[in-house]
Amino acid sequence: MTHLVLLHAFPVNRHLWDDQVEYLTKAGRRVLTPDLAGFGGSAVPQEATMTAIADQVLSQVGQPAVFAGLSMGGYVLMEILRLHPEMVTGAVFMDTKATADTQEARAQRLQVADAVLAAGHTGDLAEVMLPKLLGETTRSRSPEVVEKVRTWIEEAPPEAVATAQRAMADRPDSVPTLRRYEGPALVVWGSEDTISPSADQKTMLDVMPQAVAREIPDAGHLTAIEQPSAVNDVLLEVLSDWR
Ligand code: MLT
Repeated sequence: MTHLVLLHAFPVNRHLWDDQVEYLTKAGRRVLTPDLAGFGGSAVPQEATMTAIADQVLSQVGQPAVFAGLSMGGYVLMEILRLHPEMVTGAVFMDTKATADTQEARAQRLQVADAVLAAGHTGDLAEVMLPKLLGETTRSRSPEVVEKVRTWIEEAPPEAVATAQRAMADRPDSVPTLRRYEGPALVVWGSEDTISPSADQKTMLDVMPQAVAREIPDAGHLTAIEQPSAVNDVLLEVLSDWR
């Protein structure tokens, strides 16, 4: 069975996938969870580009695999599909989007990158991002999840935050890449996701008619940690058809 490679979101780390690793490993899958772009103690890539981040991942994986990317992890997966489609035997896009940034979003990212490097710390990034990353249900009912994500964001090195922001600002439109991709695909999103809402999912589904679509109730952007059981069940169910 091919490896399953899980690519985490910004600005957290591989522990986003702890529940999936435990569950899917018990179910017999071989799961890899690389840290991306300087997060979680990984090396900061030489260049702040999606290509450099994707190359780092591929150097750790070394063989064709099923990839699942959540948000920024999805952008990395799209870059792998653009440059090395032969490495992808199945693709899971979670709470992500195929379109590039608007000029405004891009400028905002570059500003954040400059600010964290100048400050030497990530400052109030957690306060700013928590309400966007986590859905209303998680924020009101699961304080332990909120605290876990807060800790990860506070631990994120400024260099990783800046590199990821610059790489995301620079990323191309991936709609043509997904249109070309004919392999197995799954698109998953949280019903309360405001960072990549249903219009973004529709764009991906429109160009990948083969894709299975699954909405996760009571989850925001970080579905993997907000509703881990539901995500585990969907991954196991859909991926078992891809062997
Ligand atoms: C993420 O969760 O990885 C980020 O929200 C992605 C982004 O900023 O576009």
